[in-house]
Amino acid sequence: MKCKGIILAGGKGTRLRPLTSCVCKPLLPVYDKPMIYYPLSVLMQAGIRDIAVITTPEDQHLFKRLLGDGGQWGVRFTWIVQPSADGIAHAYILAEDFLEGQPSALVLGDNLFLGNGFSERVKSLEAPEVGGTVFTVDVKDPERYGVVGFDGARVTEIVEKPAVPPSNCAVTGLYFLDGDAARRARSLLPSERGELEIVSLLKTYLNDGTLGVERLEAGLEWYDAGTHDSLLQASLAVQRLQQDGVLYGSPEEAAFRQGWSSLEDAPSVLKELGKTAYGRMLEQLATGRPTLAGGYAVSR
Ligand code: TTP
Repeated sequence: MKCKGIILAGGKGTRLRPLTSCVCKPLLPVYDKPMIYYPLSVLMQAGIRDIAVITTPEDQHLFKRLLGDGGQWGVRFTWIVQPSADGIAHAYILAEDFLEGQPSALVLGDNLFLGNGFSERVKSLEAPEVGGTVFTVDVKDPERYGVVGFDGARVTEIVEKPAVPPSNCAVTGLYFLDGDAARRARSLLPSERGELEIVSLLKTYLNDGTLGVERLEAGLEWYDAGTHDSLLQASLAVQRLQQDGVLYGSPEEAAFRQGWSSLEDAPSVLKELGKTAYGRMLEQLATGRPTLAGGYAVSR
């Protein structure tokens, strides 16, 4: 895939206080990894190697310390700061020079896509040359999210936190937009809460008839780890899923499967993680040696 990637990892994290009083949300742990590893792995699984990481000015150095320049995983990071939390659509304006008018995939720094089949699914995703694609999941409480309304298969509306939801299809924090996204974001006015809203940006595509929706199938677990409960649920889900010997949210694994880096050539990674179950799973992946539990699940 030729498109570029953006991870939006700024924001205020007010719903996670006091956890976020001195550590920002995407650096908090989700079971055995920092939260940002999960959205990063999604972009890598989609084949995206040129990735901008947008952070607050004060936290950028921490992300750089964690992620480095990306070379260890065969990707390249560009660092961008968002001086204040001016909204998700603002990311496209900040990333305009980085994007150079190319299509992109943007993923929110607190979104996790887990479960059988997602890594295969994401591999085949392409950013459209013209228009946008959003990904929805069926949820029980659509009034908490941006929701898509349909007429048959045609998307008719997209509404933020509707009192009466037109469907159960919640829009997740993964957006594939064409090279026109930055220009469109510039034409938006801030909402009542002072943000350039992603829903407003998506509506410009909807009005042009170029917004596509991909419904992520059953079996996929999606978490927006922005509250204490959802953060805990996400951690428990990763713990549960990894018990079967399958890693989730591992950039080392994503790079290995893409053929961008070889785990055998990275003994320092394995040494650093060696005392953890995470490190042992990577070692099994690298060596192909079976686990005590009866073998590493190589495909998912
Ligand atoms: P939110 O969860 O909507 O906002 P937040 O992280 O500031 O948290 P809270 O509502 O509890 O104060 O943001 C979703 C993701 O997008 C999250 O990873 C932060 C990121 N984000 C930015 O980087 N910049 C922004 O201006 C906004 C609104 C969000």
